[in-house]
Amino acid sequence: MKKKILVSRLYPKAGIRLLEKEDFALTLWEKERPMTQTELIEQAKTHHALLCTLTDRIDQHFLKHCRHLEIISQFAVGYDNIDIEKATSFGIPVGFTPDAMSEATADIAFGLMIAVARKMFFLHKTIIKGQWGHFNPTGNLGLELKNKTLGIFGLGRIGVKMAQRCKNAYDMDIIYHNRTRNKAAEKMLNATYVKFDDLLLQSDVLSVHCALTSATKEIFNGPVFKKMKSSAIFINTARGPIHHEKDLAQAILKGDIWGTGLDVTNPEPMQPDNPLLTMENVCILPHVGSGTIEARDQMSVLAAMNIIKFYKNDNVPHIVNPEVLKP
Ligand code: DGY
Repeated sequence: MKKKILVSRLYPKAGIRLLEKEDFALTLWEKERPMTQTELIEQAKTHHALLCTLTDRIDQHFLKHCRHLEIISQFAVGYDNIDIEKATSFGIPVGFTPDAMSEATADIAFGLMIAVARKMFFLHKTIIKGQWGHFNPTGNLGLELKNKTLGIFGLGRIGVKMAQRCKNAYDMDIIYHNRTRNKAAEKMLNATYVKFDDLLLQSDVLSVHCALTSATKEIFNGPVFKKMKSSAIFINTARGPIHHEKDLAQAILKGDIWGTGLDVTNPEPMQPDNPLLTMENVCILPHVGSGTIEARDQMSVLAAMNIIKFYKNDNVPHIVNPEVLKP
């Protein structure tokens, strides 16, 4: 019998073509919107494998109904939408797509940093509103980044790319805080490991690149922003729930920090009346970090290969829970 693969969204063709070349029966969800969880469960019940992404809730409820799945292949590097512990307890391997989007996401973090430092999104909006007056010698002033200190929270693949950009462009000093030290990156970037509090105290730009876990959920909150420099820029391109969004808005209003650049918000989507959207030193994007043709193609290839190799060789090249595979 052909293995039935449920493909939960319209993913780039590069990966879908690879699946089509194999002897699988594919079900492609072709609507622009994600399936509701009820639709996803009903569909997944009759399939052997699922190709999904962060808009699909693969929680206890889903897994209770779909514990028969042979593999779940996530189109993303983050997998906080999946209850990994439960999937592991049911012996379901979970694939993911690391590194495919590292360059693309670092570009967004780097771009947001400059955009916030120079109030770019806000000034663009003033032109649309017909508010471009005269050249103003003391107005619309931003910050320079040359020789400043970049603090990375989560110095992994994407954090390293962001640090490289900041070092090459602005000769920034790199400090970081991780659960475990990244000695290779320390050597490559001349980066210094610091305690979390020192990261807050010393960073001119603090860029978040960690995973969302119970330990990092809303770790950036009011008291934490208060410890940062009043001239600091907070960048989050990882996951929205890592920051407390009302506290972040308050911190900017009170002058605890200078501003923020977010590619991820808490919650998503951000509502159009969110006060952050009207602030001068704030730039927000709608979760497009991995949104380049190259990155998304590569993500779809990695997600497809995780399924193909699993059925061919009992191996998932990029796996979150390797313990479920036979030795
Ligand atoms: C990821 O890969 O986790 C991004 O957030 C979406 O591409």
